[in-house]
Amino acid sequence: MNHLLSSQDLSHEQLLGLFDKAKSFLPTVKEKKMLKLAEGKILATLFYEPSTRTRFSFETAMLRLGGKVISNPQMEGTSSATKGESLYDTGKTVSEMADIIAMRHSAMGSVAELAQGSKVPVMNGGDGAGDHPTQGLLDLFTIRENLGRLENFTIAIIGDLKNSRVAHAQCALLSKFEGVKFIFVAPAELKMPKVIVDGLINKGFSVSETEDMAAVMEEADVISMTRVQKERFENEADYLKHKGVYVITVELMKKAKKDALLIHPLPRVDEIEVEVDADPRAKYFEQVENGVALRMALIATLLKL
Ligand code: NCD
Repeated sequence: MNHLLSSQDLSHEQLLGLFDKAKSFLPTVKEKKMLKLAEGKILATLFYEPSTRTRFSFETAMLRLGGKVISNPQMEGTSSATKGESLYDTGKTVSEMADIIAMRHSAMGSVAELAQGSKVPVMNGGDGAGDHPTQGLLDLFTIRENLGRLENFTIAIIGDLKNSRVAHAQCALLSKFEGVKFIFVAPAELKMPKVIVDGLINKGFSVSETEDMAAVMEEADVISMTRVQKERFENEADYLKHKGVYVITVELMKKAKKDALLIHPLPRVDEIEVEVDADPRAKYFEQVENGVALRMALIATLLKL
């Protein structure tokens, strides 16, 4: 593994290896300890699109491994971007200084473009509506930790499935496992891209699509909620039309399985009632902790520590 650019890139074995390694780092994360594994190494975080969790998570992961961080959360304002430098050249430049790079951008394929120029590993922290491999990885890690398996379960993925890069990453990663049943719940205009649905069906997965969230609550082992991706809409009216269509409430959770998991990448807007947080099946804050452990595992793997 040289970079982590796409959720498609990882094999079943690599996934299991990463999850085992992430599990070994969990105590360090929970106890807020620092290791010396990455001593002398530098992570550069280049974020061209807003982020709270993902950038902090990459940085916390590097710091807990014992490395150091150089960071720019507003890359679009840097001289590189404003003077018109190519992402290829930015990759070349930053890789002369840092040992590993984490990047987020609003355009699909842009992280791969920067990686072309980089001589150090590059990790995709989200490229447009395309992919968000590390979020997908931490979602699967959370499922494995709680459900005990990544095979033979039903996942309902709900919300803006057209634009949610997290939903896309979850599908790509889960397609490396067997017997996963996918239920996609979205308004007609925000359905899962056909290429993803067809890809799963061609691989032999059971896929169903519906607009009725309440009808699938009883069936799902994992309920994966996503936010309506405001920043991907051309106008406010289109966004407002879809905002608030799907809301997980305490009432609705009564229909879900006793041992179901409710996951969400955060930030939440209004799609999960705050009262649901007290439900032990709600795992979204546990996901944040798992995200640091997972990114520690990824950095350690890419840097061959
Ligand atoms: C997600 C993202 O940026 O795609 N957030 C995250 O990385 N935790 C999900 C979202 O913004 O809805």
